[in-house]
Formats: sequence, structure tokens, C-alpha cells
Amino acid sequence: MQAKTVFERLRQFDAYPKTLEDFRVKTFGGAAVTVVSGVLMLVLFVSELNYYLTKEVHSELFVDVSRGQKLKININVIFHKLPCAYLSIDAMDVSGEQQIDVDHNLLKQRLDLQGKFIDETPEKQNLGESTPGQAVQNVTKSLDPARCDSCYGAESPELKCCNTCEQVREAYRKKGWAFNTPENIEQCIREGWSSKMIAQKNEGCKLFGYLEVNKVAGNFHFAPGKSFQQHHVHVHDLQAFGGQKFNITHTINHLSFGMDYPGILNPLDEVNQIADEDQMMFQYFVKVVPTIYTYIGGKILYTNQYSVTKHSRIVSQGSGENGLPGVFFMYELSPMMVKYTEKQRSFMHFLTGVCAIIGGVFTVAGLIDSLIYHSARAIQKKIDLGKAS
Ligand SMILES: *[C@@H]1O[C@H](CO)[C@@H](O)[C@H](O)[C@H]1NC(C)=O
Repeated sequence: MQAKTVFERLRQFDAYPKTLEDFRVKTFGGAAVTVVSGVLMLVLFVSELNYYLTKEVHSELFVDVSRGQKLKININVIFHKLPCAYLSIDAMDVSGEQQIDVDHNLLKQRLDLQGKFIDETPEKQNLGESTPGQAVQNVTKSLDPARCDSCYGAESPELKCCNTCEQVREAYRKKGWAFNTPENIEQCIREGWSSKMIAQKNEGCKLFGYLEVNKVAGNFHFAPGKSFQQHHVHVHDLQAFGGQKFNITHTINHLSFGMDYPGILNPLDEVNQIADEDQMMFQYFVKVVPTIYTYIGGKILYTNQYSVTKHSRIVSQGSGENGLPGVFFMYELSPMMVKYTEKQRSFMHFLTGVCAIIGGVFTVAGLIDSLIYHSARAIQKKIDLGKAS
């Protein structure tokens, strides 16, 4: 007896009072609303599920206190009108030291003017060199290593013998002489120096690989001519090209500072720069932002992202304006570091979202349905009344 009254009481709390089956009316309007709301629920559920399955990425910003890391610069640049034999690559950091501690693996590949590869295997490139050394070594291998060839009048106490074309150029440069008759110099003929320069005249060059530098500000550049230090100034020897003008049109296929993380944006990728004038200097000022990316599995990636501003101008040799045709990258490191942490989205949130979708759509559909039903009834009544009178 007692238990029965308790159950009677509890029944008062039922938030879902049921109507008797007999009093229910199934309408065509109701069916239509049900189908539409069912489709809507499904669509919303799928979008919610999609959102749940993506990863949440939290970002934090703090001062970079890491030390002693290296900066890896990945490079892939195409010069459409600049032959590989002309191009030299240099890297320097703020200390002014050149190519010190720079671990690199850069390759050059010759392209014809249509952008097709001329030789299939790329050639390894050393920093600060314009002509690859490999070919020269092959030629000079068969010669007496103790020989002492003439420097054609440019001998100096430090450089008494000029055994390669490169050394003759060096000697000429030290004297301040113009090196414009390589066809009269035996070493150069032997190495096929000028024929190589002429043969490659109408070619392009693809340059790719990486540089590993100290994590301090610095620059690296690609410019025609062999580079050297003169009175502590970095200069490029352009004499060998006899006043030839260079078209520095280039495409940066890829430039990044470290490994890619999901969602990274490298602003210089696929950047195409057409040089409207000859002898142009392109400068890219790059700000490198150290970045840590933590994957869900706990794997941590130390990398960098960057922002860039561009500047280009024409280098006119006559005006005494200093500058060099070529492509220059000046990079600086930001003192702030960004940390991204991947996280799984909360399952509870997902569940809440799903309930909100189902409940919300169900309720709104009920309102619409009753609106349709009642207004239809009201209209029907009016019509009936009209008929009766
Ligand atoms: C340099 O080469 C590009 C691409 O081939 C061309 O569009 C541009 O006009 C050239 N510039 C000059 C000064 O010839």
C-alpha cells in the first residue's frame, strides 16, 4: 500500500507525460517536417563529428631561451637566365665570418631556357665558388703536381705559381688587373674554362639543398662571380664576365628554416620574381620565428617559421652605388618563440554538441509542425464556416 503511493507521487515528476495513442493524429505536414529535420540532424551531426575528429592546436608565446642549436635552411631556387657556371653561393653570419661552421649540401643542376634539365645528375656546389671544382680536378690530375706554371706577369710573393685557371684569376685580381682574355691563358684553355662559360651562356640553373648555420642573424646570397674578401669587404669578381649583364629572374620553389609542421606557411614558396631590367638586386629580409610543435603522440619538433619583406633595385655600376646583381637573403632571429601543442578535442564537448543538435532540431521542428497543424486547422474552420453560411 505504502509503495504504491510512493510510485503515485513519483509519477508527478514525469517530464514526459504521454498522450493516449488514440488522440494522436498523423498528418502529412508532420511527416514532411520529420523528414526535413531528420536530414538536418544528420548534416549537423556529421559536421560536428568532423570537427571532433580534427585536432585542436594551442599556441603559446614565450622568450626563446634555447641555446646552441643550429639553423637549417632548406633552399630550392631556380634561376631562369643565370647559368650554373656563373653562380656562386655565400653564407655569412653577423660576426662577419664567412662560411665558417657552415655545414652544407647544395647542388646545382643545369637547365635550358625552357626549364628542362640538361644533365640529369646535379653537381655538388661549394660555398664561395662559382665554377665547380670537380671538372678542374679531373683535368689537373694527369699533370705533375709539383709543376709551377706562369701567372702571366701577375706573380706575387704569396702566389708564385698559377697552376689552375682559378689561380691565374686570383693573381690578376690581386694585381687589380682585368681578367678578360681567358682564351690566351693556357691553364684556362686546358680546363675548358671559357668554353664552359660560353657553352652555358644561355642556360638557367636550379639550385637546391640545405645550409646549416649558427643560430644567429646572418645572410646568404646567390650571385654571379667568385666571391672573396678584400679589405674586410665581401666582393664578387665579375671581371671574368666582361661587363656582361645578368637577368636575375628567379623562382623560389621552397625556402624554409627547419622541418615543416602541419599547417606551416612558408611565405616565399612558389614566389616568382621577374627581373624587368638587367643587373637587378633582390633582397629578402627574413625574420625567423623559432617554433616548437608538439604532436599528440608526444613527439616534439623544433623548427622555425618566418615572415619576409622584399626589396629590389637596379645596381648601376657607374653611379658608385654599392650592390651586386643577385639574390640576397638577410635573416634575423626573433627573440620570441611560439609553441604549438596538438590536443584531442574533448569527447564531452562532442557529446554535448550532439545532444544540442538532436534536442534543438527536435524542439524547433515540433514548434513548426504545430504551427502548420494549427494554422491549417484554423483555415479549414474558416472555409467550413464560409460554406455553412
Ligand atoms: C629576364 O627574363 C625574364 C624571363 O625570361 C623576362 O620576362 C624579362 O623580360 C627578362 N629581362 C630583361 C631585362 O631582359
